[in-house]
Amino acid sequence: MSLNDEIARRRTFAIISHPDAGKTTLTEKLLLFGGAIHIAGAVKSNKIKKTATSDWMEIEKQRGISVATSVMGFEYNNIKINILDTPGHQDFAEDTFRTLTAVDSVIIVVDIAKGVETQTRKLMEVCRMRNTPVIIFVNKLDREGQNPFDLLDELEAELQIAVRPLSWPINQGQRFKGVYNIFEEKLDLFTPNKQMVTESIAFNDIAKPELEDYIGKENAAQLREDMELINGVYNPFDKNEYLSGKLAPVFFGSALNNFGVKELLDCFIQIAPSPRPIKAEERVVQPEETQFSGFIFKIHANMDPNHRSCIAFVKICSGKFERNVNYKHIRHNKLLKFSSATAFMAQKKETVDEAFAGDIIGLPDSSSTFKIGDTLTAGEALHFKGIPSFSPEMFKYIENADPMKFKQLEKGINQLMDEGVAQLFVNQFNGRKIIGTVGQLQFEVIQYRLEHEYNAICRWEPISLYKACWIESDDKVQLENFKKRKQQFMAVDKSGRDVFLADSNYVLQMAQSDFPKIKFHFTSEF
Ligand code: G4P
Repeated sequence: MSLNDEIARRRTFAIISHPDAGKTTLTEKLLLFGGAIHIAGAVKSNKIKKTATSDWMEIEKQRGISVATSVMGFEYNNIKINILDTPGHQDFAEDTFRTLTAVDSVIIVVDIAKGVETQTRKLMEVCRMRNTPVIIFVNKLDREGQNPFDLLDELEAELQIAVRPLSWPINQGQRFKGVYNIFEEKLDLFTPNKQMVTESIAFNDIAKPELEDYIGKENAAQLREDMELINGVYNPFDKNEYLSGKLAPVFFGSALNNFGVKELLDCFIQIAPSPRPIKAEERVVQPEETQFSGFIFKIHANMDPNHRSCIAFVKICSGKFERNVNYKHIRHNKLLKFSSATAFMAQKKETVDEAFAGDIIGLPDSSSTFKIGDTLTAGEALHFKGIPSFSPEMFKYIENADPMKFKQLEKGINQLMDEGVAQLFVNQFNGRKIIGTVGQLQFEVIQYRLEHEYNAICRWEPISLYKACWIESDDKVQLENFKKRKQQFMAVDKSGRDVFLADSNYVLQMAQSDFPKIKFHFTSEF
């Protein structure tokens, strides 16, 4: 197969949802279709329950297990599908944001009863920033939930994206009969069964009286009425609108019952994008270019202190990766070759000889060669953009609790930050180090890992901060004035950029109105 054909048949995407909407269940059913697993219940993957914070070791254990399922590749109808798993626990949201930089499209799972939830909203924001094409799967139709029209309105308003149903539920809960597959003009009738693949009946004209034989008189009348409304309100599905991230097709089903999943998958492989061009600082890189390039979007550390080892996850942006060929680590300006890169086929890792644009490979990294955002190429100096850090939600001072272990602590903090475990800001006024996270769990993870991997002991001290924002301005005088006025609250991030530490929303608003020429950013990428 030619390089172009290999790339064109790849679909790399992530399934995202608020915890409990059904992401794990849907992933598992997709794997069943791909023949990648044979029984339901095989994927427990990143299913991290809302555990008490003291249970974070358990969570890390699960995270460890989930390395193999971080990326799940399988073949379906000659399409190579790569699903990137994302942690369910919101304290690891930053991981999810970064994973979204490595996908070409996204499926969002929404619970019919709960509608759009906080985590969904946040994740959608990241998709919108990157114009990532999005398909929505409304799950749990076997339960009572909202009226589907109301839900469509909610999706549109809350996720700020136009929607277009491509399947439509026939009743719900106990009375759920199935869905009308608008995309393929088929009637899919529901039989509750966790293993079975659904049977479809071609049905291109729902005006036909036979519809009543299948779903009963009342349901048939309702479906006809609903379809009339859909066709009146929504424009016909426009694939280009979807590909540009402006329109989300919506499917309905029940992942647990394996219902509506095949319809979703069959449509997905037809409309979802193959690997897309990626912006580097220097130029736009096309996936079909013959020269290899890729970037590290995730580093997964093994928590076992006896053999500290990491896997760096690389998204291949262009060309073909080959085993034992020299590639340039751009930040270190060094040639490296890899004999044991791994590919992820369903639940096992295997050594790869070659992989193509769109694929994800894992590079073993025991000596912290890589950090998030690093670029590897066949030689050209490229720097891929688009691995944002978000303003953290929680902050603490980190202090050395053992004066003899100062160096170990420094090294540990630096390496953990390179891995993207949390964000480090150094206060320019007093030189103190501040760690910013999205959740309490990350502080515990850092403390534990510093102790067990670096033999360093840290102590946390409280700091009351509302937000950290990156600042910039074309007006150098105003910028300098601001920094002088706020000198106690000025810090630098890992890359030496100016960060303002606002201790309240009020202070931030005052700063914004007093210094109109300064831009305050809430993500590190602007
Ligand atoms: P998540 O990864 O998004 O967190 O969700 P997950 O798939 O783990 O699903 C959350 C719960 O919702 C699970 O129940 C799962 O069985 C259930 N679920 C998923 N899809 C459907 C569906 O279509 N209909 C119904 N009725 N339930 C669904 P649980 O009791 O929390 O876990 P488990 O013991 O079943 O594993």
